[in-house]
Amino acid sequence: MTITYFLTGANRGIGFELAKHLSADSNNIVFATTRSLANATALQDLNRSNLHIIEYDVTSPLETMKKALVEPFEKYSPNGVDVIILNAGISKDAVRSILQTTEADLQEHYAVNAIGPVKVYQSLFPYWSKKVNPETAKKLILVSSGAGFVHNYYPFPTSHYGPSKAALNHISRHIAFDHTSSELDHIKNSIVVPINPGIVVTNMSEEAVKTFDFEKFSLQLITPEESASSIIKLINGLEQKDNDTFISYDGTRYSW
Ligand SMILES: NC(=O)c1ccc[n+]([C@@H]2O[C@H](COP(=O)([O-])OP(=O)(O)OC[C@H]3O[C@@H](n4cnc5c(N)ncnc54)[C@H](OP(=O)(O)O)[C@@H]3O)[C@@H](O)[C@H]2O)c1
Repeated sequence: MTITYFLTGANRGIGFELAKHLSADSNNIVFATTRSLANATALQDLNRSNLHIIEYDVTSPLETMKKALVEPFEKYSPNGVDVIILNAGISKDAVRSILQTTEADLQEHYAVNAIGPVKVYQSLFPYWSKKVNPETAKKLILVSSGAGFVHNYYPFPTSHYGPSKAALNHISRHIAFDHTSSELDHIKNSIVVPINPGIVVTNMSEEAVKTFDFEKFSLQLITPEESASSIIKLINGLEQKDNDTFISYDGTRYSW
């Protein structure tokens, strides 16, 4: 069975492990994006013929993002894509209060973590909605964060990062809502899910891991490999009833 994946932010961290695991199955076709092909040596070194690396920055203009997709899709997957994983994200100097954050921090984090995924979805929709694959439902996975909780407020300061992930969750719910009125059955029956990848030891979490005692709140630190393999298992097991729910890498279902 051939399942086609499109994954953003695959250069390092959780995204790199997702690209590595997904492309290990030679039946899969994997499009993995990086901001710079020149810096994507780890991805290139995987040297897998089913792994196609695309230079793609989620803060680029929408038209640039659309153009970057044309050639790879025509060449490697004219039938489109089945599973989209919106993983690219940033968190910089986020261990601060709302009084301490700045307009520039807020703008930068919203641009990458919330507006970026909207543009990725818009640029990919023609490929994602293209053709039914009997092997899988169409899936849209948004890599969110516990920092985006509104109801179960996270007991740490997340300044500009948390609000940008809460916005992402709202965008996810809106996309799921939009699909309910699609004329295409495979889009109407698609599965749109934000997931929390866990507290993962990567460049991004370095500052938070140094600052907070996560274990005090029964929050376990995991490796990118553990996170990615759990996420893939979770994605494979998703069913229609999971559409429009917020799920953790370990399968825990959250309220928003
Ligand atoms: N680590 C955690 O504990 C944790 C917890 C909750 C949620 N998350 C979420 O999980 C996702 C992955 O995080 P991570 O820990 O693996 O982070 P990471 O190691 O910092 O990797 C982030 C990835 O996003 C890419 N990226 C950043 N800005 C981009 C842009 N403008 N356009 C395209 N790609 C861009 C980076 O590309 P470059 O290599 O080119 O910079 C990199 O590949 C993020 O969405 C993050 O918010 C992480």
